[in-house]
Amino acid sequence: MNKINAIVLAAGAGTRMKSKTPKVLHKISGVPLVGHVVDLLEVIKVAKISVVIGHGREQVETYLQSREGVNIVYQEQRLGTGHAVMMAKETIKDDEDVLVLTGDTPLLRTETVEALIAHHRNGNYDATVLTASFADPTGYGRIVRDASHLITGIVEHRDANDEQRLIKEINSGIICMKGHLLTRFLDELKNDNVQGEYYLTDVIGLLSSNGYRVSGYIVEDTTEIMGINNRVQLAEADAILQTRIKVAHMENGVTFINPESSYLEKYVRIDLDTTIEPGCVLRGRTVIGSDCVIGPNADITNTEIKDAVEVKNSTLLDSMVASHTKIGPYAYLRPNSCIGEHVKIGDFVEVKNAVVGDGSKVSHLSYIGDGEIGKNVNIGCGVVFVNYDGKNKHKTTVKDGAFVGCNVNLVAPVTVEAGAYVAAGSTITKDVPEMSLGVARAKQSNIEKWVEKKVHLKK
Ligand code: UD1
Ligand code: CA
Repeated sequence: MNKINAIVLAAGAGTRMKSKTPKVLHKISGVPLVGHVVDLLEVIKVAKISVVIGHGREQVETYLQSREGVNIVYQEQRLGTGHAVMMAKETIKDDEDVLVLTGDTPLLRTETVEALIAHHRNGNYDATVLTASFADPTGYGRIVRDASHLITGIVEHRDANDEQRLIKEINSGIICMKGHLLTRFLDELKNDNVQGEYYLTDVIGLLSSNGYRVSGYIVEDTTEIMGINNRVQLAEADAILQTRIKVAHMENGVTFINPESSYLEKYVRIDLDTTIEPGCVLRGRTVIGSDCVIGPNADITNTEIKDAVEVKNSTLLDSMVASHTKIGPYAYLRPNSCIGEHVKIGDFVEVKNAVVGDGSKVSHLSYIGDGEIGKNVNIGCGVVFVNYDGKNKHKTTVKDGAFVGCNVNLVAPVTVEAGAYVAAGSTITKDVPEMSLGVARAKQSNIEKWVEKKVHLKK
């Protein structure tokens, strides 16, 4: 079977986005528009992916460089879709099929592209165009067919006559064709049209007039070929993708309570029998295990959560939470927090760059910054890891089985050794040895009958 070589056109300006960001870098469900097209091409395992870029070149290039195996091609002047493909001509191999797509169609399904390629090959066509029937085809290239239903040409809206404008079948912009024919007819393109551009679509007319067979494969779900041109369409496409993403999770065994109220980015993974309560935002490379209850109102980014974890009304960033642990309500895990099994991180607790060992509890109102807490440690209410001296950050260590009383400041660098206790209200600046009690506060003294002596207070 021939290999497939994909060329993604993404050099356009996207002026209707009214943005400093190039159009194809605007995101839906957490992934840039062009990223969705690259994802699709990775799934169908094309031999080569080339992306033609131009507008906002540096920014688009930076993103594409983060995608493995993407070949970047420049189009200095945007002289049309045919011209854009010419820029990638070196990548076209005579004995391979070329799949041309655009960078602004994020809803295209892999199944559709696979069906297009299968149709193209099974019918041994020289080119196959992905088409659709639109009630209002204004603006699109119209598909012209002959009596045998083969395509004889594509006429751009602006170049079409009144009769052609009545045609409802349009060009999606996604075309599959034989490499040697594309190379040959690209050289013959002219820009004698209303826009003065080199149209890729003219290759189709040239193929037909030279006796080659061009077919059309009709996509039923027209939302798939929706091109994003402005922010209204961006939001519409995102809503469609959100539904698809959540349905896929449900089909995999995830329960959603009021799914419309949660937002899940594309790369989030969730294992079965987990429940997503209302109002959750799950982002980036977040991975959630099975039997968890997430939410209501959890905002989780790039965090790995193991099984049977509860996260309520909390924000988690770039962290890790092991099994059977409870987070929240109102907890804040900042980057690089590593929370063990059977742990409790309770209300108004902030953790940053810290390890909390298995079975430990930090139940209320504490700041755990740059720390290492061992196993089965109890951190009382209102404990502060004083990690910053105004210049540098220092580490606090609390070893296995230690008990830190309420309202304690642990001034780092400092260690509370295994099994030690720290008295409530202490400001600890020296290490507390194993199995000892650290007390660092003024002793209480009571002044007898003080109130009675204060005459002015007596009344
Ligand atoms: C194109 C098709 C039209 C089809 C429509 C579907 C042509 C001539 N017309 O029209 O038949 O119905 O798409 O949406 O192909 N691009 C470049 N470099 C350029 C010009 C365009 O990279 O010099 C890229 C754009 O960034 C965009 C894509 O090619 O991603 C399509 O270009 P656009 O100008 O939007 O073409 P349409 O007029 O929409
Ligand atoms: Ca377009």
